[in-house]
Formats: sequence, C-alpha cells, structure tokens
Amino acid sequence: MGKHIVITGVSSGIGRDALRLLHQKGYHIYGSMRKKADAKSLTEAYPMRFTPLIFDVQDEDAVNQAAKLVFEACDRIDALINNAGVAVPGPLQFVTEADFERQMDINLKSVRRITNIFLPLLGTAHDFKGAPGRIINISSIAGLFTSPFNGVYSISKHALESMTDVYRRELRRYGIKVMAIEPGPIKTKIWGKSLNSMDQFADTDYYDILQKADKIIENTEKNALPVARTSNVILKCITKKHPKTRYIVHKNAFVFKIVANYLPDKLVDWLIHRSLSKGNRHRPV
Ligand SMILES: NC(=O)c1ccc[n+]([C@@H]2O[C@H](COP(=O)([O-])OP(=O)(O)OC[C@H]3O[C@@H](n4cnc5c(N)ncnc54)[C@H](OP(=O)(O)O)[C@@H]3O)[C@@H](O)[C@H]2O)c1
Repeated sequence: MGKHIVITGVSSGIGRDALRLLHQKGYHIYGSMRKKADAKSLTEAYPMRFTPLIFDVQDEDAVNQAAKLVFEACDRIDALINNAGVAVPGPLQFVTEADFERQMDINLKSVRRITNIFLPLLGTAHDFKGAPGRIINISSIAGLFTSPFNGVYSISKHALESMTDVYRRELRRYGIKVMAIEPGPIKTKIWGKSLNSMDQFADTDYYDILQKADKIIENTEKNALPVARTSNVILKCITKKHPKTRYIVHKNAFVFKIVANYLPDKLVDWLIHRSLSKGNRHRPV
C-alpha cells in the first residue's frame, strides 16, 4: 500500500513546494487547485504519483466530488495538509462584510468542511486499518500575534489555531495527530496579491498610515524566508514519531515568542502605535 497525502492549494507558494518535497519523498499527492491550467501543468510536471483535485475550497459540492477520487484510490491517507488561504487586508472598521466572510470561509470554515470530509481516511472510519493519519494546518504567526490593518487575516488564523487544538483534543481517541505550522514571512505570491489594495480605504482616517502598506509589503517580502523552510517542517510533522503541536517558521522564532507571549499588551500597543504613526498626524489618537 502506497503513501498518500492530500494538500489544498498546490498551485503556488507553500503548497506547491510541499508537493515538490513530499513527492520527492515517495508520497502520492492529491493536490487541489482551482484552475484547470494549473492541473494540466502540474500533471505534466508530475506524471506519476500526482492526482489533481480541482475545486474552490468555498464550494463544498466540488470538494465532495473531488474527494471521491481519493476515496476510490485509497483506504487511508497519511496526512491532510490544509494550506489554501488568502489574506484580506484593511482596517477592521471598514473591511466589507463580504470580504470578512470570504476571509473566514477560505481560511477557517473550509478547513473544517474539508477536514470532516477526509476524517474517515485519516482514522475515524469504523473499519479503518493501519496507522492513523495526521492533520497539518498552515496557520501563521498572525495566528499568535495581532497586527493592525491585517486584522481580518489575523482573526481567521487565531481561530484556526483554536480549531487545531479542538480537533487535536477530540481526535486523540483515534490516534490522529493534529498540528499547526505558523510561518512568518515566506517568499510566495501572497504578498504581491495585497499590493495596491489600500486605495479602497482612501476616504478613511487611516489612509495616511495605509499608504505605507505597499512599502512595508515590499520590505517584508524582500526579507522573507524561502518556501522550502516551511516544506521541511511539513515533512517533519508527517514523519516524526512525536511531533510538536505547533511549529513557528521564522527568522527569529525566539524573539517572536517573547514579544507574542510575554510583553504586556499596553507596551505592544504603544510600540505598534509609535512605529505606525512616525511622521504622521495620526487621527484619531
Ligand atoms: N507566504 C507567507 O508569508 C505566509 C505566512 C504565513 C502563513 N501563510 C499561509 O500559507 C498558506 C499558503 O499561502 P502562500 O503564501 O503559499 O500563498 P499563495 O502562493 O498565494 O498560495 C495560496 C494557495 O491557496 C489557494 N487558494 C486561495 N484561495 C482559494 C480558494 N478559494 N479555493 C481553493 N484554493 C485557494 C491558491 O490557489 P489559486 O492559485 O487558485 O489562487 C494557492 O494555491 C496560506 O494559508 C497562508 O495564509 C503564508
């Protein structure tokens, strides 16, 4: 019996590189994408041990339809990697209800829907045989620390952290291990997708600060880690006998942990306010 892994969002970035590494390690990858063109080019790149699953994570019927391919091909999977995600930027006060819902649906609610579909193959089926599988949720350091103007994304990832804990504690009876990976900035397309997105808030009190967003995105992307750093941690989550429950992937994970966990809120509020309002008449204060 082969080794099988389901990954959402393999068309680019972290998902695509996870496909590269895990395929190299001998797994058969069932990778999801939205566009047929991506399915075609990836099938050409990986003619063996790769099955494209075409769906938008928001479309439950399409996910169910694609999942049938996996259920027909295997009676267990080694891992489900919930990776597909987007980042909706903007001040919480002004992000539209539709954008807020889209962020929550893609980054959070779809993870529950997709996980529940694949749970029987991970170990909850009554006639399940073999070693239980693992669930790896690609969260973010934004799930541990909240930055302003990236708040909707941060809320979705904080909730994903909680969802990871809930599943881990509930699924323990089946032996299914559940982990979160929390990357800091990683060089992928996600950054470019947020460029020029702040103009929609041009009439708000925040625009003086938001105008700096593109510069900040460009600088962050420049200093971002290569995507392979995350893939190596994903592999560890799948293969280690006793994996940790969370893995931070960050240039300076230790300092990040101190800031996120030990500095008083009011000090962090002040530091963020000071760095954002430098050179601005920041209103309201
Ligand atoms: N890059 C970072 O710095 C960073 C840091 C922390 C966490 N993360 C997390 O890592 C994950 C992957 O992001 P990435 O950086 O690799 O970004 P990316 O290159 O933009 O890849 C995002 C992936 O998600 C897919 N996706 C987006 N919306 C979807 C939908 N509605 N249905 C199905 N698939 C959808 C995309 O497919 P399409 O090509 O069809 O759009 C793409 O395959 C995300 O969950 C993100 O939050 C990234």
